[in-house]
Amino acid sequence: MKNSILIRPYRPADSDATIEIFLRAIREVSSKDYSPEQINAWAQVEDPAKWAERRISRPAWIAEIDGKPVGFSDLTPDGCLDMMFVHPEFQGLGVAGRLLARVEEEAQLSEMEGIYTHASLTARPFFEHKGFQVLRRQTVERRGQRLYNFVMEKFYQRRS
Ligand SMILES: CC(C)(COP(=O)(O)OP(=O)(O)OC[C@H]1O[C@@H](n2cnc3c(N)ncnc32)[C@H](O)[C@@H]1OP(=O)(O)O)[C@@H](O)C(=O)NCCC(=O)NCCS
Repeated sequence: MKNSILIRPYRPADSDATIEIFLRAIREVSSKDYSPEQINAWAQVEDPAKWAERRISRPAWIAEIDGKPVGFSDLTPDGCLDMMFVHPEFQGLGVAGRLLARVEEEAQLSEMEGIYTHASLTARPFFEHKGFQVLRRQTVERRGQRLYNFVMEKFYQRRS
């Protein structure tokens, strides 16, 4: 299966597909780790135009299987992996692993010392498995609900 995953640059026409993946991944996968109220507060895209703008504002990648977008990720210039979402029907197949490998390739090409992310409870074991360490737990507020997640980082070189 890993061989049939294609990683390609994000295109503006992918915006709706990323919204669907984002909403479904939260509602159908992260829902095992957060309450229904928290999931409802998190799984919202109120302004698709703003969402589309954010997606093209930094390098981003789509994972495709058989021509269908099944996951996406990105990397901001300051080294933040902001998004890592995989379609619920394509979990556990290596999609996030392939996306992360592409993100890390980009970070190293850009000579970043490391990258960081704000990992959900659901994603923390994945990032730990891939060599990230938890810096701290934090609480974020979304539409009146408090959710906690983890600031995690991975370094490629020792800081001098
Ligand atoms: C977390 C998430 C992105 C993982 O995606 P995925 O495509 O199922 O992960 P992969 O199949 O690529 O897993 C890659 C590796 O991580 C490991 N892994 C994945 N999830 C894991 C878990 N919960 N616990 C331990 N290891 C895990 C896999 O065993 C695999 O190991 P390998 O490379 O040695 O074979 C996915 O579950 C998801 O979309 N979750 C919901 C949305 C979410 O919370 N996103 C993060 C927002 S910060």
